[in-house]
Amino acid sequence: MKTSKVITENIFAVGVQDKDRKLFDALIPLPSGTSYNSYVVVGKKIAVIDSVDPLFVDEWLTNIQGLKVKPDYIISNHAEQDHSGGLPKFIQTYPDAEIVTNAKSRDLLISLLHLPSEKFLIIEDNSTLDLGGGYVLEFYFAPWVHWPETMFTFLPCKNILFTCDYLGTHYSSDDLFVRDEQLISDAAKLYYSKVMMPYRAQSRKALDIINLLKPLIIAPSHGQIYDHPEFILRNYADWTSQNSEDTLILYVSMHNSVKKMTELIRRELEMQDITARVLDLAETSSGDISMALINARAVLLGTPTVLGGAHPTAAFAAILINALRPKISTLGFYGSFSWGGKALEQLSGLITNIKPEILPPLLIKGQPLPEDEIKIGAWAREAAMKML
Ligand code: FEO
Repeated sequence: MKTSKVITENIFAVGVQDKDRKLFDALIPLPSGTSYNSYVVVGKKIAVIDSVDPLFVDEWLTNIQGLKVKPDYIISNHAEQDHSGGLPKFIQTYPDAEIVTNAKSRDLLISLLHLPSEKFLIIEDNSTLDLGGGYVLEFYFAPWVHWPETMFTFLPCKNILFTCDYLGTHYSSDDLFVRDEQLISDAAKLYYSKVMMPYRAQSRKALDIINLLKPLIIAPSHGQIYDHPEFILRNYADWTSQNSEDTLILYVSMHNSVKKMTELIRRELEMQDITARVLDLAETSSGDISMALINARAVLLGTPTVLGGAHPTAAFAAILINALRPKISTLGFYGSFSWGGKALEQLSGLITNIKPEILPPLLIKGQPLPEDEIKIGAWAREAAMKML
């Protein structure tokens, strides 16, 4: 987007589209690019809400200048650089403007961007900033969605809530508002799984703030704006709930031993009335693994033994599980070996952030023999008993 767009009277979108970006944090796949949203509120005084990624600062400043206004404030809801990277150039361009944020955010912004401390106007939780003309901004701290300083800004006179990363999507579009709820639900699910899931309890609390404010419009700082936000709030209520009904088998196989074990486990679970979702890690993106983890109650992770340890693809899945902290209550490791090694101990040692019940490891030598199939069946039945 090269210009500003009107959201409603005196509220403008001045952010930028990053259609070609392929990865976020060098990890999250971006099939539809992303955007760095920024907003301008025009009362008697002028406030800009959030900045943009450093690569797009000039385009963003051009969008603001196109409105022919002189900002008095820039609100920083979140200090991460994709929303704060333009602050140094902003305060050069508008030297009288103040950076409005909380004390924790100020400290982060100073260390990340070397901003001068005298440029900050520090606000408290539940405090307000009056722009004049009936435009009063309200601030609500929403820590750990997904950094410690994150907060929301609410404009009651227009019933708009600015949530920065929260409820965001990595989805680039020239259309301001969500019109395809299924498409955006899918994009939001990927975003949630990678960014918010590790802080599920805090995401749940942030939902409580929104349910009290009841905004008509929710404007995040990635993706499109919600003018009918009910569906995304329903999604977040589900994803952050205690619901965890899915059984997930993640495996990688080199010479079919682990693949055969996986099929035997899947069939035994089915006989116990448990339908497991099976993902071959060699063919599954990290985004699909992350999304599958959102409502998983049990994860069974299978690996061959490679050079004495777990297959690197299985180790990556274990590291991902550890980082994303899904709400699983049962975890099991299984695999094969040819002449020795510590593949399963290695996987188990990679998952320390969560404390599910861990099944005894199941390891067999080479291709499963009939006696191995009996062991595998018993192991799967034990897994089923834990889940049920
Ligand atoms: Fe979009 Fe936490 O940054």
